[in-house]
Amino acid sequence: MCGIVGYVGDANVQEVLVNGLKTLKYRGYDSAGIALFDEGKIKIYKATGKLENLSNKLLNLNSEIKKPSMGIGHIRWATHGVANEINAHPHTSTTGDIVLVHNGIIENFKELKAELEKQGCVFKSQTDTEVVAHLISEEYKKTKNLKDAVKNALPKLMGAYALCIMSANESDKIVVVRKNAPLIIGVGDGENIVASDIPAIVSTTSNIIYLNDEEVAVVKKDSVEIENLNGEKVPVKVVRISIETDAISKMGYKHYMLKEIHEQPNIVRNLLCGRIGDVNQPIKLDEVKISRDVLKNLSKIQIIACGTSLHAGQIGRYLIEDLAGVSCEVEAASEYIYRKNTTDANSLVIAISQSGETADTITAVKQAKEKGAYIIVITNRPDSNITRYADSILNVNAGIEVSVAATKSYTAQLLTLYLFAIYLAEVKDEGKDKLVNIKKELLSIPTKMEEILSSESDIEKKADALSKYKNFVYIGRGINLPTAMEGALKLKEISYINANAYPAGELKHGPIALLDENMPVVSVLIPGHISYDKTISNCEEAKARNAKLITVTSSNDENLKKLFDVIFKIPEVSDLLSPLLTVLPFQLIAYHISNFLGKDVDQPRNLAKSVTVE
Ligand code: AGP
Repeated sequence: MCGIVGYVGDANVQEVLVNGLKTLKYRGYDSAGIALFDEGKIKIYKATGKLENLSNKLLNLNSEIKKPSMGIGHIRWATHGVANEINAHPHTSTTGDIVLVHNGIIENFKELKAELEKQGCVFKSQTDTEVVAHLISEEYKKTKNLKDAVKNALPKLMGAYALCIMSANESDKIVVVRKNAPLIIGVGDGENIVASDIPAIVSTTSNIIYLNDEEVAVVKKDSVEIENLNGEKVPVKVVRISIETDAISKMGYKHYMLKEIHEQPNIVRNLLCGRIGDVNQPIKLDEVKISRDVLKNLSKIQIIACGTSLHAGQIGRYLIEDLAGVSCEVEAASEYIYRKNTTDANSLVIAISQSGETADTITAVKQAKEKGAYIIVITNRPDSNITRYADSILNVNAGIEVSVAATKSYTAQLLTLYLFAIYLAEVKDEGKDKLVNIKKELLSIPTKMEEILSSESDIEKKADALSKYKNFVYIGRGINLPTAMEGALKLKEISYINANAYPAGELKHGPIALLDENMPVVSVLIPGHISYDKTISNCEEAKARNAKLITVTSSNDENLKKLFDVIFKIPEVSDLLSPLLTVLPFQLIAYHISNFLGKDVDQPRNLAKSVTVE
């Protein structure tokens, strides 16, 4: 959600900024803008819609831009005020002496705006961000120094921010600061770059500084200096990152989503490697720092997450309860915060977040932490904000996920939950033989995933034929219900087709009224559990209302062909491990329907990759 790039150096500044912003498009945006320090003044260019609109504008203006020495850029996902050029960043103070871009939310902007207007500041936009430019400008009048003006302004801001600021009076520096919003500094040779995320800096450097909250960095061409708000110098720690160039290229696939779907078997392989060696030996999960005694005596676990991560958590509940015999609650992070008396100092709370930047999940985790709970964070970004509150971090190691629709991170979260549930069961000495069998079966999962992916052309044909429907109902039971919910979410997100998921048993309690020949019912059917026959009965009830029946199943029962109109067959798998396989056809169905309909698969409308507002 929103992306920032800033650059000081000799390269073509506007090109570095636009190319950096391109790599951040996955975060979600609806307008873009840059500010260039050129010919002793700051020039600002903005455009609504796609980043290409800004690039084209810049191309046409090329003679107006001479040789900028630095610049800042931004892609905006509208929160305060519609997506137009006035509300697009960069924002300026009344006189234009301060220019900045911002990611996050200024919670007290209304109060600040009222005060600043009284002082004579003239506001142009409807954004919360603009108050920061005016505030810093007012401080600049007193300090005549950008860094000090920023430091004086910060204590007045409530909320979250990553800010990248230039002064028209200081031609050699960008000042950057963050609080609860991501911002990194890339250290180059005679050039420095700042950005919201790694992909924007990798073509400049692989040396990174992770800025802490409320540290102010002065970024010049040849130096980076950091101070805290008390004016104390902070030692600059540069770390070398391994550049994930594969992750940020499509590797020949039409879309990132498709590439990321195909990465899943290897992600699972890598996660299993070193954790399950000899299936007769306990699983290795050294990242769990909580003591074995505490784990043995746990009476309840709570899982909090949003969206796709929440679906992973819902499967995690079944695993923890089934394998480790510990009761487990799962709650949408945005709702958890309203629960009373549910978490205390004896609670174990597992927060799941691909990005580690989701505001709803972070707020919920903070609340749990304040109550003294032990926090495990499952994330794909171990350097993200949420990990600040973690006692243990389980890195799902899926690599950077660019497509807004989560696929590989979901599978990696799921696998991490399987590993954690087995680990907990082993600590508690629960059902050794069952665990050995599960570990054996887990090792076979990557090959079975590859088998499903190899039948993609068949899935594509069937999906294309389904793209004519405007509504779908997804159903599942038990451990298969969250997969049905995830399948429906994927379809909604990227094809904008209405798809609702229900527990199969709930169909007859209301949603069945929706069914007719225009409303296909999509089910998950895995034999070997009582839920199988019951779900078939629910499908028959739907058939009796003329609904077209579609299923993802591992069953070899030939009779299913009489009942179902479309069957997506997956390899044989136990009910408990089936979520690792059943989700693949759902991801591919959603992908191919969206692609067939010509939608923007990787950047669906209205969505952002990391949702940094509540
Ligand atoms: C997934 O396809 C979605 N884009 C969305 O539901 C996402 O899972 C949710 O916003 C949570 O994000 P997180 O895992 O980064 O916290």
